[in-house]
Amino acid sequence: MKYQFPDNFWWGSASSALQTEGASQLGGKSQTTWDLWYAEQPWRFHQGIGPDDTSTFYRHWRDDIALLKQLNHNSFRTSLSWSRLIPEGTGAVNLEAVTFYNQVIDELLAQGITPFITLFHFDMPRVMQEKGGWENREVVQAFSDYAQVCFELFGDRVKHWFTFNEPIVPVEGGYLYDFHYPNVVDFKRAATVAYHTVLAHASAVRGWRAGQYEGEIGIVLNLTPSYPRSQHPADLTAAHHADLLFNRSFLDPVLRGEYPADLVALLEKYAQLPLCQPEDKALIAAGKIDLLGINYYQPRRVKCRGSAVNPDAPFMPEWLFDHYEMPGRKMNPYRGWEIYEPGIYDILTNLRVNYGNPRCFISENGMGVENEQRFIENGQIKDDYRIDFVAEHLKWLHKGISEGCNCLGYHMWTFIDNWSWCNGYKNRYGFVQLDLTTQKRTIKKSGEWFAATAAHNGFDKE
Ligand code: BG6
Repeated sequence: MKYQFPDNFWWGSASSALQTEGASQLGGKSQTTWDLWYAEQPWRFHQGIGPDDTSTFYRHWRDDIALLKQLNHNSFRTSLSWSRLIPEGTGAVNLEAVTFYNQVIDELLAQGITPFITLFHFDMPRVMQEKGGWENREVVQAFSDYAQVCFELFGDRVKHWFTFNEPIVPVEGGYLYDFHYPNVVDFKRAATVAYHTVLAHASAVRGWRAGQYEGEIGIVLNLTPSYPRSQHPADLTAAHHADLLFNRSFLDPVLRGEYPADLVALLEKYAQLPLCQPEDKALIAAGKIDLLGINYYQPRRVKCRGSAVNPDAPFMPEWLFDHYEMPGRKMNPYRGWEIYEPGIYDILTNLRVNYGNPRCFISENGMGVENEQRFIENGQIKDDYRIDFVAEHLKWLHKGISEGCNCLGYHMWTFIDNWSWCNGYKNRYGFVQLDLTTQKRTIKKSGEWFAATAAHNGFDKE
């Protein structure tokens, strides 16, 4: 093989509870903020499709795991639903949920697929949001207790834990840019949410270590390398600020056990620092991880601001930079995201050079495409564009590994076409096509390509 990967490389894909399980109001599950928001503002959701019956994994888990096996996955990440497991957010555990997750974990293991389990993937229980969500330290404690319940129930079989998936996204969506509930625009509240999420993460890690469970614990971050328009000092500063806010606000605490001093100074300058308690520092230091999941979709290109800010407008990250559209950039027009394959290599190199080369893997990478039915030939979606997308990213990943980066695997977003938050089923990401009417699953051409790549632990594509 021209691109051969190290032995025991993790080949797989990722999904999340809320995006796949469905049965949102069944099996003893309580509501999340998504159920609440959908009830209040259904027009926010593409074609009015909400979170109530997403992709039916709750019913079809056994068949779906058989499909994972057919795709030659040796590992698979999904999340547990806090509101399914502990419907009141704290206290009594829902036994039906325990049975469901036990069955899923046991079946994955029986099929030789290592379960990677995330504890929180954007799905705040409604009861917890009613207490203020991540703005309230009580919720931090409740999350830590929920994590402990999960470790106790499933830690004998789950050896790869992730506290959060993309914790910056609920901060951006819910408190800055109006694409998640509770649709607040307030930087200081956003900073508080981010800070408390780091505390919740650290508290779960501390609990896991105290329990002396076998395996490893980490977090999944969406890292978006910040590229300056030019090497002009003003553009470089803009890129540095974007990096501090969107990447290092989580990366540094989880890998170095502390925040970057210049991020703290920056927030202080604009009077946006969250309230800290003296004991937080030690807790954050205890939250250092064993394994980093990296979600990589797109770079962030920035330039220095071209105009003065409106001093009456709410403080926003964009006070510190402007977005930059690089001429000739390659786009995924359906999602509006730039495709820049070398970004994956730059992330890994940054981790190797500046963060002590941590154990890490690509936990998500993917391409959402609209109306894929137009690519059907002989009953199968011939998604060659997705094969190219994966192969080009894998080539850069391979280069990173050949230079010593400690990258242990590659997971695709996602396994079966699933429900994408406000985008519903508009853009399809799966290796497996989902027919929404019949729920029939059909493997796409990319699924077959990936299965062969996993089987050979590499590929030859030019
Ligand atoms: C990641 C998330 O950000 O990207 C997933 O972890 C999400 O939950 C995926 O579905 C694709 O983004 P979107 O918004 O197109 O669904």
